[in-house]
Amino acid sequence: MSKEFDLTGKVCVVTGGGRGIGRAMAEALGRHGGFVVLVGRTHATLEDAAAAIGDQSMVQVADVSQEPDVLALREVILARCGHIDVLVNNAGVNPIFRGIDRTSLEDWQNIIDVNLTGVFLCCKHLGGAMGAGGSVINVSSVAGHGGLPRSVPYCASKGGVEMLTKALALDWAKRGVRVNTLAPGWVDTELTHGLLEHDVHGKRLLDRTPLGRFATPRDMAGGVVFLASDASAFMTGACLVIDGGWGAE
Ligand SMILES: NC(=O)c1ccc[n+]([C@@H]2O[C@H](COP(=O)([O-])OP(=O)(O)OC[C@H]3O[C@@H](n4cnc5c(N)ncnc54)[C@H](OP(=O)(O)O)[C@@H]3O)[C@@H](O)[C@H]2O)c1
Repeated sequence: MSKEFDLTGKVCVVTGGGRGIGRAMAEALGRHGGFVVLVGRTHATLEDAAAAIGDQSMVQVADVSQEPDVLALREVILARCGHIDVLVNNAGVNPIFRGIDRTSLEDWQNIIDVNLTGVFLCCKHLGGAMGAGGSVINVSSVAGHGGLPRSVPYCASKGGVEMLTKALALDWAKRGVRVNTLAPGWVDTELTHGLLEHDVHGKRLLDRTPLGRFATPRDMAGGVVFLASDASAFMTGACLVIDGGWGAE
């Protein structure tokens, strides 16, 4: 492994690390030497992901939208590991694919609470505990750069994550803590499987993706290792887009 991608000794927190993109990212951080803290609401999936990583991991159940959970998470990690070096804010919830007329305030609030407030809370309490050399990676989306049909709350949440990231990167540059986003295109996970398998909508999305396939979670692995490691030491307030060319159009 080349030195600039080495994460040995780094404590890497991954929210939503039990499945999908978060799990693939957690495994990649572990393969590069990081000690991985897997966070989510479901103990069983977190344990399963931790077993795949091995001794270099721990699990902690927490809902990122709940401040007491995030504060408890910080205490547990600092007590066990003593420091936090990498924070991957990946936890996110399903776009509902409905017009605004059929989107309730509750729908809006649920998506904003997890996708945006959850990022705010984890940045504040976990990123706030980082020392110089820390790296925060907020998982955004191509939906944070351009609108998707019938996805007002989701696009608003991801656009918010993009701007939260830029603003925080300015505030924390002097501390030596970097803050970037990683924006995936369409990735086949539980979140999107129904849509991507859909005869009409799935085909339309595939045709619109220049590389001609959907991503696998593993396609996000190299990007998160890059952003977590010294390989990206001069990068902050930026976005790494991994979308098969979707945004080139
Ligand atoms: N799949 C795509 O095409 C795509 C594209 C662009 C961006 N993204 C983004 O990538 C991220 C991961 O998506 P994915 O496709 O891997 O989705 P996924 O398979 O549904 O996984 C989402 C993860 O987030 C966790 N989670 C959800 N709500 C949480 C909460 N309140 N607190 C803590 N953990 C929570 C889930 O675990 P529990 O349910 O056990 O808590 C799960 O581990 C999301 O931010 C998503 O918006 C996905």
